[in-house]
Amino acid sequence: MQKIATISLQPGMVIARNVFSTEGVLLLGTDTELNHLHIERLRQFGLTSIYIKNPFTDQMVDGDLIDTIPEVVREETRVQAVQAVHAAFQNISDTRQVDTKEFKRTAAFLTDEVIKNRGAMVHLTDIRSRDGYTFGHSVNVCVLSTLTGVKLGYNLLELRELALGALLHDTGKMLIPKEILVKPGPLTVEERKVMENHPDYGFDILRRQSEIPLISSHVALQHHEKFDGSGYTRSMGGLNIHHYARIVAIADVYDAITSDRPYKEGTLPYEAYEIMMSLANTHFDPVILRTFLSQIAIYPLDSIVRLNTGEIALVTKVISGLQTRPTLRVIIDANGHRQTEGAEIDLTKQLTTFIDKIFTPAEILELDANSA
Ligand SMILES: [Fe+2]
Repeated sequence: MQKIATISLQPGMVIARNVFSTEGVLLLGTDTELNHLHIERLRQFGLTSIYIKNPFTDQMVDGDLIDTIPEVVREETRVQAVQAVHAAFQNISDTRQVDTKEFKRTAAFLTDEVIKNRGAMVHLTDIRSRDGYTFGHSVNVCVLSTLTGVKLGYNLLELRELALGALLHDTGKMLIPKEILVKPGPLTVEERKVMENHPDYGFDILRRQSEIPLISSHVALQHHEKFDGSGYTRSMGGLNIHHYARIVAIADVYDAITSDRPYKEGTLPYEAYEIMMSLANTHFDPVILRTFLSQIAIYPLDSIVRLNTGEIALVTKVISGLQTRPTLRVIIDANGHRQTEGAEIDLTKQLTTFIDKIFTPAEILELDANSA
C-alpha cells in the first residue's frame, strides 16, 4: 500500500483503502480500479492523497505478504477524530466557544490508542482534503506528539496534557481571516504578521477555559518558538520552551512538510528526515528530535527501492533506531529479471549494500508494466 498525492494519480491504479470525504461519506471503495472519472471526482472533493495498492506486493507468492501495515492509530479512529475536531474548531470560529469536552474526549481516545500500539512505527500519515487540512493536521500532530511522549516515558496524565495541547495548538488560526488562512500562494509581509499572531490568539482563548490545563494552553502559545530563540511570539529559546511545545513544534513541521497539497506532492519521509536533522539545535531540541525521528519509518513498509547493486527490492521490515537499514525482498534482479521468490536482504547485516533510490507510486506502476 502506498500513499499517493491526488495530483499524481493515474488510471489503472487500484485503491487500497476506502476513501472518505471530510464529512465521513464513502467516495470510493477498496479494490476500485481508478479511471479518469474517479480521479476527477477525487480532485473535485479536494482530497490531496489516497492509498493505492502496490502491484508487487500482491504478486509475492511465499506468504510473506505485507497485507496490513501496523499503525499507530486505526483509520476509523483517525476519521472519527478529524470529524470531531472539525466540528469543534468550526464552533470556535462561529461562536468563539470552546467545546472543551469534545476536545478532551478526542485527545483521550487518541492517547489510549497510541499507548495501546506503542512500539508501532509511523509508516503512513493520514489523507486529508483541502478544506479539512487544519483538522487533519491537528489530529496528526496529536498522534505524532503523543507517540513521542510515550517514547520519552511520560505518564498518562502527562500524555493527555500533551495530546490536548497538540490537538489545540492551532486554535488561534480560527481567528485569522479566511483569505489569509487558505490563501494558496505565499503570504505578503503584512499577511505573515497577521498569521504569526495565531499562537497568542490561541492562548488567549484557551487560558480562559478552566477545564483545559494551563500547560496545554502554553503549547498553543509556544509551538512556533525555536530552540535557538529565533521563533515567535516571545523569542523564547532552549529549555525555557516547555517540553510539550518542543515536541509539538517538531511534529507540526514534520507533518506539514510530508503532507500532500492540492498543488504539490509532500516530501517523502527520507527527505523529510534529512530536512528535520538539518534543523537540530536551531529550530528543534536535538534530543527530542532524535526520539521523534526514531519512530518514523524512513523507508516505509511496502516501499520499493533500488540498491547500489542494481537490484530493485521491496521493504518488508523496519526496526526502530535502524530505519536507514530495513530488511528487503528482491523483486527485480540486477539484470532486470522479475523475481517471484527473490532473495531477502537484511541491510543491518549487508553493510556494503545501500539504498540509492526510492520509487514513487507512478514509477512503481511503470516498473510493473516494463518488467511483467
Ligand atoms: Fe501554528
